[in-house]
Amino acid sequence: MRDLFEGHPIVEPAIETMSEGAFILRGFAKPQDGELLQALDDVLTASPFRHMVTPGGYAMSVAMTNCGAAGWITDRTGYRYDGTDPQTGLPWPAMPHCFEALASAAAAAAGYPAFRPDACLINRYVPGARLSLHQDRNERDFAHPIVSVSLGLPATFLFGGPKRSDTPSRFALRHGDVVVWGGPSRLRFHGIAELKDGEHETLGRQRINLTFRRAL
Ligand code: SIN
Ligand code: FE2
Repeated sequence: MRDLFEGHPIVEPAIETMSEGAFILRGFAKPQDGELLQALDDVLTASPFRHMVTPGGYAMSVAMTNCGAAGWITDRTGYRYDGTDPQTGLPWPAMPHCFEALASAAAAAAGYPAFRPDACLINRYVPGARLSLHQDRNERDFAHPIVSVSLGLPATFLFGGPKRSDTPSRFALRHGDVVVWGGPSRLRFHGIAELKDGEHETLGRQRINLTFRRAL
């Protein structure tokens, strides 16, 4: 019998394991990218990107906004979730249905079948922007995983251990990849290395990341 794979390129496995409970779903969001970007436009019209300030007084290189019932914010008084956009004084825009559906489906594919996000942090990186190692720990219940969708320019995801000093592993994230981490990996340190210059065919010179969480 002929080799079924003859002439076909070896493809990456669709799901890569980073650590126990932590996975990369390669290309998972790609079939929905047009719908996601259209919904994103409406969110950005209501609550545009802004550079928030850390408690230490530094403006972040990553521009951020939120949608959903709870939005993650930082200012001189600290990090927290708030239902109101401090820039508009209005509630954050509602989470688009296609965002929520994608996040729930990705979590289920990674072994977290009951994930219903109420918060979506939207990060915008231009070349040179970076996000230093941190834990996501402003959420009420760490039993819920985190779902993170990459769009636009590729980036290097730094995935560390439970301590800040643990040397992180490096994973390339490309347009459409979805990272899910929870369970024993829920509080691992993570970040994004300085974004390299480039031009993405639909998003141009930027990377957009949607991070879904159950915050409340
Ligand atoms: C985050 O940790 O909030 C964002 C990670 C990413 O941009 O992929
Ligand atoms: Fe994070």
